[in-house]
Amino acid sequence: MAAISRLDVLRLRNLSEVHISPADSINILSGDNGSGKTSLLEAIHLLGSGRSFRSQKLEPLIQDTQDECIVFGELQNGISIGLSKSRKQGAHVLKVLGERQRSWVEAARHLPVQVLNSESFSLLEGSPKVRRRFLDWGVFHVEHEFVSNWRDAAKCLAHRNLLLKERNLDRKQLLAWDVELCRLADLLDESRSSYFAAFLPLFEEILRTLISIPTLSVSYSRGWDEGRSLEDVLSGNLIRDIKYGATQNGPHRADIVVRVGRLGADEVLSRGQQKLLVSAMKIAQGHLLSRINGVAGVYLVDDLPSELDAANRMRVCGLLAELGCQVFLTCVDQSELENCWPAALLPRKFHVEHGKIWQ
Ligand SMILES: Nc1ncnc2c1ncn2[C@@H]1O[C@H](COP(=O)(O)OP(=O)(O)O)[C@@H](O)[C@H]1O
Ligand SMILES: [Mg+2]
Repeated sequence: MAAISRLDVLRLRNLSEVHISPADSINILSGDNGSGKTSLLEAIHLLGSGRSFRSQKLEPLIQDTQDECIVFGELQNGISIGLSKSRKQGAHVLKVLGERQRSWVEAARHLPVQVLNSESFSLLEGSPKVRRRFLDWGVFHVEHEFVSNWRDAAKCLAHRNLLLKERNLDRKQLLAWDVELCRLADLLDESRSSYFAAFLPLFEEILRTLISIPTLSVSYSRGWDEGRSLEDVLSGNLIRDIKYGATQNGPHRADIVVRVGRLGADEVLSRGQQKLLVSAMKIAQGHLLSRINGVAGVYLVDDLPSELDAANRMRVCGLLAELGCQVFLTCVDQSELENCWPAALLPRKFHVEHGKIWQ
């Protein structure tokens, strides 16, 4: 099970030294604003992705007066993940089961983390990149070859784009990259579209328990014209690609298109409706992972009470409880998350104050 049974956080934001033993189900962190709740979620997110969900930059994560931060997590299945992030360039260390890693692939595989917070809207409002990342996160967790195909395609694309920018285009070389790019594009499309086909009915079922949006349509778009091969599209659009100095169509343009009637979901739906829609998408992804891999991953839910009203909070908590996975939720006042759980499920409660956390 991908549940964290022990977590140590050192020198990350205001968390100087934290050691906790979370429950494998629901964990509630309460405390005043600025006490360190989101920072703890950030630490967990770092373990499963190498990134913060709050800042692109690494610097702000490390405690002001310190040179490095450390996060160590032990999972219920015996896997351990440890990382240190340093202010010194290139001095980061990531270990899985004590073995140094060159990429995040291993750690991410063991610890699938998803975030529900005030930024979750970006899944609807943001660029296709955000939705593509959401989709690819899911595909990554259910299909082992996906990540290497994805990386190889990115390499091909980078080479192709470099060639496009050259004054005298080397068509022979371009064709060679195109052949490989098209092969990989078909593989990526196959993986993404079959994942999406499994995701969609689950999402629709979950959404129905939260909200009714009769004219909602959610579809996968592969990044180039349906019914035409990418080879065909690339050769037909060569002049345009040269003009932009970049490939305009391909798997790097894949998207999940969310519409209400003929308009974008973010243009029509209220904030509250958008929150429920995004919650349904993320919870559906956990269900799919659980169905295929037997693990739903870990959910980091930041400040749900300020995101949803009491009735919807109950519904979202009910869905998370049903999923049977590990969840970390933050709130200011514990009573706001108290009666949201089935009677048999006793959340583990933590109090956060000035960077200290106790049960
Ligand atoms: N690099 C840092 N070093 C020390 N303290 C920091 C750093 N970054 C943020 N903080 C402080 O950490 C505290 C915890 O923030 P946060 O986790 O967002 O609190 P909460 O989610 O409980 O409202 C804040 O008071 C913030 O000022
Ligand atoms: Mg916070």
